[in-house]
Amino acid sequence: MKWLANWVMSRRSRLLLTRLSHRLPESGIIADVGSGTGHNAEAIRHWGRHHVREFDVADLHWVGPGPELISDSRIPVEDQEFDGLIMFFVLQYPMSAEELLRECRRVSRGPLLIIQSTYQGRLGRIVLTIREFFWGRFALRLATLAGLVHPDRFSLQPCHDFTRLELIALFARVGFVVVEIVPAEWWRLGVSRDLFVLQPEVL
Ligand SMILES: C[S@@+](CC[C@H](N)C(=O)[O-])C[C@H]1O[C@@H](n2cnc3c(N)ncnc32)[C@H](O)[C@@H]1O
Repeated sequence: MKWLANWVMSRRSRLLLTRLSHRLPESGIIADVGSGTGHNAEAIRHWGRHHVREFDVADLHWVGPGPELISDSRIPVEDQEFDGLIMFFVLQYPMSAEELLRECRRVSRGPLLIIQSTYQGRLGRIVLTIREFFWGRFALRLATLAGLVHPDRFSLQPCHDFTRLELIALFARVGFVVVEIVPAEWWRLGVSRDLFVLQPEVL
């Protein structure tokens, strides 16, 4: 079971990261916010060009050193500490996605690479809700039963879902310029795992 779960998660990380390897800075310190199992951070470390620090509100890691625990969307580091920041499939969870994004903007002097599922239309919203359940609470339950993680009353309950336009508006409110959007439609079911490349707006 552990072997299979590792294979699935490692393969997923490789696929996610091929979408953005050339968009990360050449080297430096990268923050992975909402790092989950740790597979994405480990895959970046494996390239050998970056130091990666993980942050999460819960310790769900089963590979790598694990996250520094955070709360209230506060990342306890100096301004502009990081050369880049990744955040995959996280924005649906915090009460205020805007607050978390503001904090990400504060701590990174480089690009923010965000992958977030977005929906289009009524069907897309239903499909996204089901997908969130399977990749969120269901996967967490399986991983807990398999003894891979030991969450402390943490449920992965989403508070929001987003359309692409809602996210673009949110990024603008926080002061980001959207440099690039790379959609990846999921089976033409009205759901896309969008990659957003963001840079802080220069005032
Ligand atoms: C669906 S998992 C994604 C994990 C990982 N990014 C990935 O793609 O494999 C969502 C992660 O976001 C974390 N999370 C939830 N709310 C958060 C918050 N306010 N700040 C940082 N991380 C948060 C959860 O603990 C969980 O690890």
